[in-house]
Amino acid sequence: MNRPIGIFDSGIGGLTVARAVKDLLPKEAIVYFGDTANLPYGDKDTATIQDHALRICDLLLKRQCKVILMACNSAAAAAYDLVQAYVGKRAAVLNVIDPMVNHIGSQFKGQPIGLIGTRQTVQSGIYARKIQALRLDVQLKALATPLLVPMIEASFTQGINQEIIDNYLQSPVLQHIEALILGCTHYPAIKTQIQTFYQHRLAVLDATTMTATYLRNFLVYHQLLSTYYQGQDHFVVSALTADFEKATRIFFGEAVHLEELTD
Ligand code: DGL
Repeated sequence: MNRPIGIFDSGIGGLTVARAVKDLLPKEAIVYFGDTANLPYGDKDTATIQDHALRICDLLLKRQCKVILMACNSAAAAAYDLVQAYVGKRAAVLNVIDPMVNHIGSQFKGQPIGLIGTRQTVQSGIYARKIQALRLDVQLKALATPLLVPMIEASFTQGINQEIIDNYLQSPVLQHIEALILGCTHYPAIKTQIQTFYQHRLAVLDATTMTATYLRNFLVYHQLLSTYYQGQDHFVVSALTADFEKATRIFFGEAVHLEELTD
């Protein structure tokens, strides 16, 4: 089905997921939306994030997206069920949490796993609930790391502060774990620094590739794959600054032209 894949995040962190989707599914056209006017989501209350998520769905539906991929853990934590009910049969709705939960269920049975994410993601308990719903034998140790997103968003101009990362990872909550879930789509941008902290002794898991694989399997199963590339991706943000545009390189691997939302 030659309709685009809609991907959204509170900002440009979700571009890490868009990158993986592009790499795995080059024939799919993408409409990416970054809600930069309302960034960050991670510290906002659930109702506010839900409002934003529904508004973004309207926008992606208007652009005929066949799938809406919530490339934001905080939005998925606050609004996934609501968005699914709202969108109904108009598009499929996927998120970045289910692929990760499936992955740890199959690869880390019986092991203690760490999770870092925004306050919204961690306090919602969404990962633990999904693990429990699938009766997965995984012990989750979750820590909210609210300083990381602002640091990453500002990293293009201000750089990465390894001390902030180390302080979080030294928390007693995250001791004796076999793997660490990066429960925020901004965090792949600091994956190297996190691996450096652990000296590669444990698996640092980001959802980008597993989400792209999950999406591909979904499209194949439902016979929704595009048969040809329509030739244009769109990257739209609700507020545009030059720094955002420059920072796309960090998240997408190449600079992309951002369009500011006008409608
Ligand atoms: N990228 C978002 C996530 O995966 C968080 C960024 C924010 O706090 O807005 O949770």
